[in-house]
Amino acid sequence: MTKKRMETLLFDAKNEGSIEAVANILKNGGLAAIPTETVYGLAANAFDAEACANIFKAKGRPGDNPLIVHICNMEMLSDIVEEVPEGAKKLAEKYWPGPLTMIMKKSEKIPDVTSAGLPSVAVRFPSHPVARAIIEKSKLPLAAPSANLSGSPSPTTFEHCVHDLMGRVDAIIDGGASSVGVESTIISFAGEKPVLLRPGYVTLEQLREELGEVEVSHAVLEKLEEGEKVLSPGMKYKHYAPKAKVTLIKADSEEYIKYVNEHAGEGVFALCFDEEAEKLNVSTVCYGSEFSDAQQAEHIFDALRKIDESGAERVFAHSPKATGIGLAVYNRLIRAAGFDVIEL
Ligand code: TXA
Ligand code: MG
Repeated sequence: MTKKRMETLLFDAKNEGSIEAVANILKNGGLAAIPTETVYGLAANAFDAEACANIFKAKGRPGDNPLIVHICNMEMLSDIVEEVPEGAKKLAEKYWPGPLTMIMKKSEKIPDVTSAGLPSVAVRFPSHPVARAIIEKSKLPLAAPSANLSGSPSPTTFEHCVHDLMGRVDAIIDGGASSVGVESTIISFAGEKPVLLRPGYVTLEQLREELGEVEVSHAVLEKLEEGEKVLSPGMKYKHYAPKAKVTLIKADSEEYIKYVNEHAGEGVFALCFDEEAEKLNVSTVCYGSEFSDAQQAEHIFDALRKIDESGAERVFAHSPKATGIGLAVYNRLIRAAGFDVIEL
């Protein structure tokens, strides 16, 4: 089947008039990839069922995977959710605007296609000045999943978006590289107790400090059973997977380097920490310092894309520590590895 390609307008947020142009495209029911502090998002009017349906088409996203709705002030919430639970108010005060998404009971104004038929909706108030300016200018809540093709690593730069979405969306606007680098932390207030559905820059430790008890969805760290029902539909899909076969290695630096060097060969790559590259006898792609989980988060998706471009066939990825922001990096990498882990 041949897909109809459309003209994609490219903008730079630094240029005068670009924010307004993108806001107008969104007001007219169009799709635009926009920068946020976590990753780039593919935005459309969250109240427009047809525009939201087009997001799914452009990404090749399964229809049962709901979208996150982005706002730029607290007043917008009242049109989107039924009520704001106490815990969500507390977190909003501390972490909004920022890389945190909260799931609450949806209002009737949110079309079923946006929430994929769920009675709840995910909401985020991003801190990125360009994202906020576009929401403000359009005066619309914007539904936006990550602006990648379904299954590939989330985009953290304008170039990543162009690579994935050129000819599939109305506009892409450059706002520089995303500084957080992994998608927002997702916490659900849709059930009895708050549940962490996806780890991110706002850590589990920080959430527990505000709320006390926070459950962790088992899909964060474990592979789901075939047909298993999950709280967050996105968790069941294959994600971030490079074309190469990736194995996650849990080991200290010395053991990791020894193991990889013993398995050196054609097409073998190491996805490693900065400090390890020069001691490895294979091609390397680094994803930050061993000692900085924030740096690892910032670079992980670009590193996964570089692995793909390099033509690697076999990748040994050094596992980050699964604490703090590291839990988010670990969660993405274990999916990129299809849950193939070796513990040394
Ligand atoms: O940082 C981010 O969150 C980025 C930027 C663009 O804001 N967005 C993003 O969206 O990562 P996406 O669609 O790639 O991931 C959204 C995740 C999916 O796993 C989806 O299943 C889950 O959020 N989700 C959305 N609404 C939900 C709901 N009502 N209940 C449970 N999970 C939900
Ligand atoms: Mg995504």
